Amino acid sequence: MIDVNAAAERSLTVIVGITGGIAAYKAVGVVRDLVKRGHEVHVVPTEGALRFVGLPTLEALSRNPVTTSVWDDVSEVRHVALGRRADLVVIAPATADSLARMAHGLASDLLGTTLLATEAPVVVAPAMHPQMWEHPATRANVVTLRERGVHLVGPVVGALTGDDAGIGRMAEPEDIVTAALAVLDRTSETRRGDLSGVRVVVSAGGTREPFDPVRFVGNRSSGRQGLAIAADAAARGAVVTVVAANVEAGLTAGIDATVVPVGSALELAEAVHAAAAEADVVVMTAAVADYRPAEVLAEKLKKDAQGERMTLELVRNPDVLADLVAARRSGQVIVGFAAETEPDRDARVELGRAKIARKPADLLVVNHVGWTAGFEREENAIEVLVPGGAVVRETSGTKAEVATAVLDLVATALT
Ligand SMILES: Cc1cc2nc3c(=O)[nH]c(=O)nc-3n(C[C@H](O)[C@H](O)[C@H](O)COP(=O)(O)O)c2cc1C
Repeated sequence: MIDVNAAAERSLTVIVGITGGIAAYKAVGVVRDLVKRGHEVHVVPTEGALRFVGLPTLEALSRNPVTTSVWDDVSEVRHVALGRRADLVVIAPATADSLARMAHGLASDLLGTTLLATEAPVVVAPAMHPQMWEHPATRANVVTLRERGVHLVGPVVGALTGDDAGIGRMAEPEDIVTAALAVLDRTSETRRGDLSGVRVVVSAGGTREPFDPVRFVGNRSSGRQGLAIAADAAARGAVVTVVAANVEAGLTAGIDATVVPVGSALELAEAVHAAAAEADVVVMTAAVADYRPAEVLAEKLKKDAQGERMTLELVRNPDVLADLVAARRSGQVIVGFAAETEPDRDARVELGRAKIARKPADLLVVNHVGWTAGFEREENAIEVLVPGGAVVRETSGTKAEVATAVLDLVATALT
């Protein structure tokens, strides 16, 4: 079973913000520690920070490019990309100035914009002279940040720059890392158990529609997104059934779920409807063929019997999502997935709106697929719509992260 509650054990994407205090050199220890623990680290320093610690050091240690400005790599829209990908943001050291900017939501550099673009937990390790720390302006900023859910580590009492001592010294790097990972565990803890006892059916994979004993019409869905949802649901306490259409056996191993293997759309429809009769939640992640060959031959189709062109007659398959929605029991939550090749986000959302208008599932997850997107990939990008067409969530990241985002919405829909 995959444990979502082991931040220290799973690989995270962590943004380490470094601001311009003398303790910036110690932030190198935070970066090293996180990288050593197997996490992917993106360092976002301020201009001030780079007066204290060199950019090449940060790039070499984090193994990722480092920049301070929103004007670098504009095509990537770096602050949004980083903010979305982050599991955790750690700012060490956090200067008085940076706390003030955060409290006011200023977005004048890459760090400020990234902080506004992220939903990840934010942990700050302030470091400054005691008078600066005790100043009413700093105190008020800290109160604002705490009220907003920002976590603080330190500052601690100790030796400061020069001969000074007192409150204001940055916590030690290893203490910052430990505290930050613990924050993430606590955040996961609030999710853990939120689907306790909830019966969840997830369809995963892609159907194969045979036309003779050895051939089929199929699609490229690997089942990874559905399995990530199943794993996360199980980790949150749900009783999970996976209807797995042609999913590699190795992928379902280790997931705490009943797995029902199916091949074709008709088999999938039968298995999903049977499981849905007892389910509180049905998540239709599988790529189900809209059509199947009208005839399935008993013997292999011979090339010699065909000309230069061959026509395969197809007939419509049942629309499993529409049928589930029509048969929905009171309180049952139905989640549809719509794989769309449309690259333009707004146009894709419009396609989703049309689909949820036709089939009013409780949530419709639109995901971008294509030759190089969605299928067979470790990452996914989604927009989630509700009846009426509003986009209630938009995210991209690993399929595990997308699964968590979808199940957060399911948990809310159930309450
Ligand atoms: C040598 C030196 C050390 C500094 N140390 C600190 C510090 O520990 N904490 C702090 O809040 N500001 C410190 N400052 C002041 C900040 O660098 C200054 O407020 C700057 O605007 C912070 O910018 P930033 O938050 O964008 O990095 C120091 C400045 C200098 C020149």
